[in-house]
Amino acid sequence: MSDPHTSPGRNLALELVRVTEAAALSAARLIGMGDKLAADQAAVDGMRQVLSTVSMDGLVVIGEGEKDEAPMLYNGEHVGNGSEPQVDIAVDPLEGTTLTAKGMPSALAVIAVSPRGTMFDPGPCVYMEKMAGASDIADLLDLDRPVTETCALIAERRNIEIGDVTVVVLDRDRHQEQIEKIRGAGARVRLISDGDVSAALLAVSDRSPVDLLWGVGGTPEGVISAAALKAIGGALIGRMWPRDEGERKAALDAGYDLERQLTQDDLVRGDDCFFSATGVTDGDVLQGVRYEGRGVASTESIVMRSSSGTVRRVTARHNRAKMREMTG
Ligand code: FBP
Repeated sequence: MSDPHTSPGRNLALELVRVTEAAALSAARLIGMGDKLAADQAAVDGMRQVLSTVSMDGLVVIGEGEKDEAPMLYNGEHVGNGSEPQVDIAVDPLEGTTLTAKGMPSALAVIAVSPRGTMFDPGPCVYMEKMAGASDIADLLDLDRPVTETCALIAERRNIEIGDVTVVVLDRDRHQEQIEKIRGAGARVRLISDGDVSAALLAVSDRSPVDLLWGVGGTPEGVISAAALKAIGGALIGRMWPRDEGERKAALDAGYDLERQLTQDDLVRGDDCFFSATGVTDGDVLQGVRYEGRGVASTESIVMRSSSGTVRRVTARHNRAKMREMTG
């Protein structure tokens, strides 16, 4: 991508923020309307329109799925205006489709970009067991150790009681046993109904009471979270979690190592990746789209670049004409 010795170091994230803003503005029209597919489609449409104007030759490594099911932003699609740099792209135009449909907090529009060939392609594995936390506990993250023991180690490291350790977990049946164990050990559980990218950002933030993210969630979300953490700091590890024998066999046949704990540097290699997220609904990490009357809407985004560690919060006001231009 940009050579820091020969170029001033173009910060693609500043252009990508328009992409996630467009997706968020489009999806926001459907907040609380009970239709998650329509909200997702609106986000895809908004994102794709602006993505085509960004100066890059982007290859979608993590998109909406295979071409047959996803006519837009499908894996393998080329996006951007085709000029340099050549990059890999992971998109989640609407991270939290159900949250949006139900008008619940923490839905985001997100994108991550890294140099061509550096982004992990999850292949057939839809899910990944993940753990994330701030950099002071990075060395304690281990998916082979019981989560309760990790909670105790975090308490010791931070010189707090285990009762002050909070683990954010997706509220799913598959996590029930662990949730009971974490509570049994005296630690707290913050359950979320969806949105583990936002939860990963919370887990690494020193401004949130959440210490650890744990659980099985989407592999795409794991890769996208990894890109963010490479810039903002903190650590994430993940291990492929096949849902059934068929998926396990397909992954093994394709050469995936299902035992391996992947770090954020395996999920996004190198150190020049970009991340942008815009809030769709209000959440702990970002404010959602707000309508101010007379066709004006405001957005809040967070944009990051790993090579410089730059993290910016961007608030923007969009008038009706601008919104139409961005979202079609
Ligand atoms: P969608 O926006 O696609 O609905 O995904 C939201 C999400 O909650 C992710 O944050 C998470 O990684 C994944 O779904 C968990 O998958 P599942 O709902 O199948 O358990």
